[in-house]
Amino acid sequence: MTKVMSNDGLNAARIAKKDEFYTQMTDIEKELKNYEIYFKDKTVFCNCDDPEESNFWRYFEINFDHLGLKKLISTHYREASPTYKQELFVNENGEKKFIKTNLKQNGDFRSSESVAILAESDICVTNPPFSLFREFITQLVELNKQFLVIGQINAVTAKEIFPLIKDKKLWLGQSIRSGDREFRVPSNYPLQATGYRVDEDGNKYIRVKGIRWFTNLDYPERHKDINLYQKYYEEKSKYPSYDNFDAIEVGKVKEIPCDYTGVMGVPITFLDKYNPNQFEIVMLANGNARTNVPLKTLQEVNYRPHIEDRGGVGIINNKRLYARILIRRKVL
Ligand SMILES: C[S@@+](CC[C@H](N)C(=O)[O-])C[C@H]1O[C@@H](n2cnc3c(N)ncnc32)[C@H](O)[C@@H]1O
Repeated sequence: MTKVMSNDGLNAARIAKKDEFYTQMTDIEKELKNYEIYFKDKTVFCNCDDPEESNFWRYFEINFDHLGLKKLISTHYREASPTYKQELFVNENGEKKFIKTNLKQNGDFRSSESVAILAESDICVTNPPFSLFREFITQLVELNKQFLVIGQINAVTAKEIFPLIKDKKLWLGQSIRSGDREFRVPSNYPLQATGYRVDEDGNKYIRVKGIRWFTNLDYPERHKDINLYQKYYEEKSKYPSYDNFDAIEVGKVKEIPCDYTGVMGVPITFLDKYNPNQFEIVMLANGNARTNVPLKTLQEVNYRPHIEDRGGVGIINNKRLYARILIRRKVL
């Protein structure tokens, strides 16, 4: 039976610097089909991708003409051996050209060489190392790039990521809304007790929880309302108020009431269904926030720099809750 890699497993992988998880082609295809309109005449950069291993490179190589790409570039990181940049483009004679160029640096996405390529590119599409996800997104946003990248849902509570979501500069992609995803790992990957499978050809895979796409490319599905069936004023006892915010707790997204116009605290999986035309995101009450400062009202909270402390924690009957996103329905 296949087991699923826990957060502990992921942490262990992070500590061991085992960031070598390869995204499966089917996962890439399911997501990319929502964004084909964005790629015509564009340069795509896969900056954490060994073209010999990466299905991102493979996907764009196969679909180069179909998408009408201008150029595809891939670089990858090597700690201790030389690395290179691979490019695919159509030259002046209409011929497709592959070019391999050695890099002077090690392919780190933060290296000046990689940053220069990113600056020249239009859209970055990849699965970056989980351990550097926040830095990775920050760089993309600073360079004002379009992007579609894989990460873990817990990243939404990070101080670098949440403000982008709140300000509608980043949202979750379309195709992964729950469950876990399988990634291929190198043959020497130390598979331990949890979350692995070996196929009939000897390829090793691990399953990882909480995977999502993160993007700033729009898609129609994102503008569909969540259907709301519950009524706050008929079942008030189901929706306790926070001790420290002027807001009610809604423990499950499907329980968001249709008749409440105040602020509601919802789990972070709300973002899987978030339609920015239906709800406004007020702030994050992060269960892991460092601050224990008691905050009396939401207004007070709003005066605090939420980027620093992300607004404190949600407390009900003196008990701290998991991370909650505070939302308010937009009344048209
Ligand atoms: C989760 S894997 C995904 C690989 C590939 N993008 C894919 O989806 O199949 C992350 C990749 O990032 C590479 N990596 C690690 N640190 C990096 C860095 N600082 N800059 C660029 N790539 C890095 C790893 O070697 C690894 O191949």
